[in-house]
Amino acid sequence: MITCSAPGKIYLFGEHAVVYGESAICCAVDLRTRVQVEIDDTINIESVLGKTGIDSEIHPYVSAVIERMGEFTSIKGVSIKIDSDIPVGSGIGSSAAVTVATIAALNTLFNCKITLEEIAKLGHEIEMQIQGAASPTDTYVSTMGGVVIIPQKKKLEHIDCKIVIGNTNMLSSTKELVANVAKLRDSYPQIIDPVLSVISSISKIGEELVTNRDYASIGYLMNINHGLLDSVGVSSIELSSLVYAARNSGAFGAKITGAGGGGCIVAFVDRMQVDGVAYAINAAGGSSIITNATEHGIMVESN
Ligand code: PMV
Repeated sequence: MITCSAPGKIYLFGEHAVVYGESAICCAVDLRTRVQVEIDDTINIESVLGKTGIDSEIHPYVSAVIERMGEFTSIKGVSIKIDSDIPVGSGIGSSAAVTVATIAALNTLFNCKITLEEIAKLGHEIEMQIQGAASPTDTYVSTMGGVVIIPQKKKLEHIDCKIVIGNTNMLSSTKELVANVAKLRDSYPQIIDPVLSVISSISKIGEELVTNRDYASIGYLMNINHGLLDSVGVSSIELSSLVYAARNSGAFGAKITGAGGGGCIVAFVDRMQVDGVAYAINAAGGSSIITNATEHGIMVESN
């Protein structure tokens, strides 16, 4: 039996702008999806969503992984059990984590010798196939871990302040939100392009701030980035309430993470303030998750 895990992620800066080739900084967080695999007579997939065989409705990502792994090995029967800390469909990278952790687990079980770079690439292709659109960011960061600046895919310094995620518990569609921004950009290119380019400048300045571990300034730029995301129409009352709750209770800064519309916000927080920020997010109607950045991408947990 093999167990592999992979982390979720948050965006410090740059979501939406990254779709147009601009810069973003993304960070793996210590919320993991674990995938346990063993040889069986038939194909069985088990998660909180149910027990199935290959099933593109209930387990689309894992089913697609099993099918694509046929390029490397012949899988006649395997039992796959998924267990995850990452809230589903909330912009924290649950689909990327389950996809790359499943590839890694089957890679180890069947000794396919697929490299980490190839796992990230295959994971991205699978996300594209299922979602119709996806940037390679989620699968790359989940595979490699750490703090990564896109598009260079360069690893930055470890982040050692606390990270508090606030979940609105409202699902949102990344595809729809990306399409809304594209429509706005088509209507007002002279306005939206400069906004996306300022977001990119924030990421570029952010690179040095991460290197200097200057979390107060990072928080300040996160606040500006949130305002710019609001200006392109991807915030909501619920998201902004959580952002303000976090800021007013002492976070360095807070913003939407991911596509917006619903999903989550992220706050950078000093250790001393972490309980107060989590409490404020819950009091504002969200669900707080206290976590840390992690250097660990895909891990083989037991062999
Ligand atoms: O909501 P998520 O975690 O899928 O992030 C979406 C980030 C976008 O920049 C809006 C889209 C993308 O594919 O990069």
